[in-house]
Amino acid sequence: MSETWIEVCKLDDIVPDTGVCALIDDKQVALFRTRTGELFAIDNYDPFSKANVLSRGIVGSVGDKLVVASPIYKQHFCLATGECLEDENVKLNVYTVKAANDAVAVKAG
Ligand code: FES
Repeated sequence: MSETWIEVCKLDDIVPDTGVCALIDDKQVALFRTRTGELFAIDNYDPFSKANVLSRGIVGSVGDKLVVASPIYKQHFCLATGECLEDENVKLNVYTVKAANDAVAVKAG
């Protein structure tokens, strides 16, 4: 089966160390670009505040993990795995994302 990638935005649309929100298959996804050029995509939905806000969180690191801190209650979510550092029972969906030329694309399905 062939892979389907959904082009979401231009790489330049994401300021390094920040996130943007994209609607993919009716689901809000938070896309992040780190200062070293890595891309990550996790659910935009914060299960603690029950709001679609994670793309606006602060990107940083806790130990060796790259995380985003929820802008509401400040829980930290690992960008690579979706795990919540404060609550091991909470894990967000992660999505496969890549830079294709100067665009950002998320794998569908
Ligand atoms: S690997 Fe990121 S929180 Fe566990």
